[in-house]
Amino acid sequence: MSKAYLPPIGMLAELTHRCPLQCAYCSNPLELLKANREMSTAEWLALFEQAADLGVLQVHLSGGEPTLRPDLELIIAGLSRRGVYSNLITAGVGIAEGRFQKMADAGLDHVQLSFQGAHAATTEKIGNHRGAHEKKVETALAARRAGLPLTINAPMHRHNMDEVGDFIDLALSLGAERLEIANVQYAGWALLNRNALMPDRDAVERQVRIVEEAQARLYGIMTIDFVTPDYFAIYPKPCMGGWARDAFMVAPDGTVLPCHAAGTIPSLTFPRFGEGEGRSSLSEIWHDAPAFNAFRGTDWMLEPCRSCDRQEIDWGGCRCQAMALAGNAAATDPACVKSPLHARMAGLIDEAMTAHAAGTDSFRYRRIGAIGS
Ligand code: SF4
Ligand code: FES
Repeated sequence: MSKAYLPPIGMLAELTHRCPLQCAYCSNPLELLKANREMSTAEWLALFEQAADLGVLQVHLSGGEPTLRPDLELIIAGLSRRGVYSNLITAGVGIAEGRFQKMADAGLDHVQLSFQGAHAATTEKIGNHRGAHEKKVETALAARRAGLPLTINAPMHRHNMDEVGDFIDLALSLGAERLEIANVQYAGWALLNRNALMPDRDAVERQVRIVEEAQARLYGIMTIDFVTPDYFAIYPKPCMGGWARDAFMVAPDGTVLPCHAAGTIPSLTFPRFGEGEGRSSLSEIWHDAPAFNAFRGTDWMLEPCRSCDRQEIDWGGCRCQAMALAGNAAATDPACVKSPLHARMAGLIDEAMTAHAAGTDSFRYRRIGAIGS
């Protein structure tokens, strides 16, 4: 008999891996899926029905670029009918005039728009897309005209960290309610490009000072969320709020995973949503899938997590980072000072600085077909 777990609250839906940008830190897997592997409108709507039945309250519509799906308004309307809060996560490039009004009319609740830089040259370089910055500014204004609340997302790394103050001014000028300054997490494409993206310690310290000052100055005007950089930390973050605790994600082909990088853990097999052979309901996956139960709670923990008083604060950190750096997904996240591998994080920062000084740190841009098939 299956054990019942508390229901998930949030879900990230990667509707497509297609995207007009090619950011070298993308959290999508290295092997990107082509359009012919994406679930149909009917399959996504069936999945969202089951998600609502399971208890999901918020769905983040992401990608790739979710607005490349011509059925996005139908998907939003399906969520709205079930009273599920919908957040569109967009790169904001190439969105047709009037589309935001259609999405707002369908029931969209919120827009989260990413900027690769606070200045046009940086945005173009990081996303490898000419004219991207101006298009994003227009997207922000279109979302506001449609009456949608706006969050600006700024993924931070070596190439834009000194623009952090300008990111804050940009978000204010665009009328954003919220700015998320998120230091890149080294998984997926960012892990591949770690040497090209890693900032130095002085830049990180300057960034922290500027953000903390702005958080105090703009209190009540604009919320600034700050995702600090793992490689410079003492304790890890509770990745996903803990493995399969209150959220999950779905890949474009209906594969259901506890987090976006879980596919890098080779011992786990991830179920596909749907009907037919080898397919499962969301409820079966959430409660019974071995991959979801692999790192739930604290029973799986090894020392030092096993006897640590922070184990229900950070849940041992990130399983995928443990896999990438320790070679064991059940190990303590090396971002933790108690991990025997913690010093390796500092070594990897030094390695990146050396590669940068030697000029061997070029980007590998994210593209479908660039890696694998
Ligand atoms: Fe968290 Fe484990 Fe480090 Fe304790 S030892 S702080 S539980 S990662
Ligand atoms: Fe998978 Fe952190 S990204 S647990």
